[in-house]
Amino acid sequence: MLRVAVVGSGPSGVYTAQALLQQSRVPDVRVDVLDRLPTPYGLVRYGVAPDHEKIKSLQSSLRAVLEDDRVTFVGHAEVGGAGGVSPARLKELYHAVVYCVGAASDRPLGIPGEGLPGSFSATEFVSWYSAHPDASADGFPLLTPSALVIGVGNVAVDVARILARGAGELRGTDVPRAALEALGTSRVREVHIVGRRGPSQARFTTKELRELGALPRARIVVDGAELALDPAYAAAEGAGTSLPAVVRRNLDVLRGWAADPRGAAPDRERRIRLRFFLRPVELLERDGRVGGVRFARTAPDGAGGVRDTGAYEDIEAQLVLRAVGYRGTPLPGLPFDPVLGVVPHVAGRVIRDGAASPGEYVAGWIKRGPTGVIGSNRSCAKETAASLIDDAPLLVGREVTGDPLGALRDQGMRPVEWDGWLSIERAESALGRSLGRDRVKIPDWSGLLDAAGAGPGGAPRGRQP
Ligand SMILES: Cc1cc2nc3c(=O)[nH]c(=O)nc-3n(C[C@H](O)[C@H](O)[C@H](O)COP(=O)(O)OP(=O)(O)OC[C@H]3O[C@@H](n4cnc5c(N)ncnc54)[C@H](O)[C@@H]3O)c2cc1C
Ligand SMILES: NC(=O)c1ccc[n+]([C@@H]2O[C@H](COP(=O)([O-])OP(=O)(O)OC[C@H]3O[C@@H](n4cnc5c(N)ncnc54)[C@H](OP(=O)(O)O)[C@@H]3O)[C@@H](O)[C@H]2O)c1
Repeated sequence: MLRVAVVGSGPSGVYTAQALLQQSRVPDVRVDVLDRLPTPYGLVRYGVAPDHEKIKSLQSSLRAVLEDDRVTFVGHAEVGGAGGVSPARLKELYHAVVYCVGAASDRPLGIPGEGLPGSFSATEFVSWYSAHPDASADGFPLLTPSALVIGVGNVAVDVARILARGAGELRGTDVPRAALEALGTSRVREVHIVGRRGPSQARFTTKELRELGALPRARIVVDGAELALDPAYAAAEGAGTSLPAVVRRNLDVLRGWAADPRGAAPDRERRIRLRFFLRPVELLERDGRVGGVRFARTAPDGAGGVRDTGAYEDIEAQLVLRAVGYRGTPLPGLPFDPVLGVVPHVAGRVIRDGAASPGEYVAGWIKRGPTGVIGSNRSCAKETAASLIDDAPLLVGREVTGDPLGALRDQGMRPVEWDGWLSIERAESALGRSLGRDRVKIPDWSGLLDAAGAGPGGAPRGRQP
């Protein structure tokens, strides 16, 4: 029997488990899927926006894998942390370990004022409305009129959309109580989304962009003259351009909005202003908090990049969300490339001291970096699983401990197994019913662990509540 630990129960972890089960070269495979959280599914639970119910429903296909008899979900089992199990120990417990730990941190901007009160990473905001148990308990009061999102990727669009939605639009989702209340009393009326390059270089996808235009309470404002600074914007109007289809579609959507300056519904109370060619240089302070952002006006450099023009523009905003990408963090005991923020690998095999380390693998965002949709992780996981199966004849010869879960308990860990997760699901449904809603997420460690029946509540050792 080949015993594999997959670390991380997000899409890449679950797709790795699935690929290992679906192959036929090694018929007897057992997979333990460990996660530091007592809940499965990674960013599908804690990143995908609550109003993207169709994408959220992918959880049911991930669930089918985790419910396979050959798979054991082991939640609340951190690898590499102070109270967790070390990679070295995992190698003793399993023939192979696949690290699928994602890229949970944010990329800093590295400009003055970034640390001012009122300036947050989109990661923090997403974690808050997704009820991640590590999210700050302080929350986001949303009592100021203007918010600004730096970056024009899909995360920027997600956070802007949530800011522009009313509580009524989110009541039917599992968004946690505190976030729903804060969004319900939000005084934010303007949301700026600002890109440092042009609209043809924006990273958002057309479906997500269009969705902004369909928000019932918000009107989109774009400036045709600013869009036209991008040569591709003018060129794309005629047929036969060599632009990728997604770029052409994005430009068409923007062109439609620019042509209708009043917006489809001038009475909508909120504005989303999409801005381009503005590079953030400083977050401006007012009364000890962020009061706005200073941007350098840029222009296309003819090679897909931009150059500064020497002009500046300040935009007022009392809440700034930096949506400039996620970043992998080092896992103690595992090699890490600090420049790329990934674990070095060849075809999924972890590279230690310049050579492939037998029995250690990576998949997902910690392997490729923080880009790609859920489906991208399937092919990535398949490649890794194929490498592992190729190595299996070498790996299975080694004796491993028969009861890895017992070994984790022996070192003081309190794993939450599948039944514990099902108890959390039931508790979230009960919480929802008590609030007159469907399911509502439990936002804190102690609530999750109590619901899972994992002994007295509280943060796991070595973690902030
Ligand atoms: C805000 C946001 C919204 C998104 N929305 C969409 C969308 O709508 N549609 C779409 O297709 N894609 C979306 N994506 C992209 C998608 O979520 C990613 O492609 C995918 O989640 C990456 O999978 P992963 O398994 O590599 O990482 P993750 O999903 O992050 O999973 C990593 C898992 O590892 C666990 N873990 C981390 N460290 C440890 C440790 N030390 N020990 C044990 N466990 C650990 C984590 O708890 C987590 O469960 C979104 C991404 C973000 C950031
Ligand atoms: N609905 C969905 O399908 C969905 C939802 C959310 C996320 N996702 C996926 O998750 C992945 C991550 O998304 P993401 O939005 O975090 O990342 P992303 O797509 O890489 O976008 C990052 C944005 O930040 C900008 N940026 C980076 N550094 C900057 C700086 N110093 N100053 C100003 N702007 C800067 C980038 O501009 P430049 O291009 O100029 O670098 C880009 O516009 C993507 O693959 C995304 O598609 C999908």
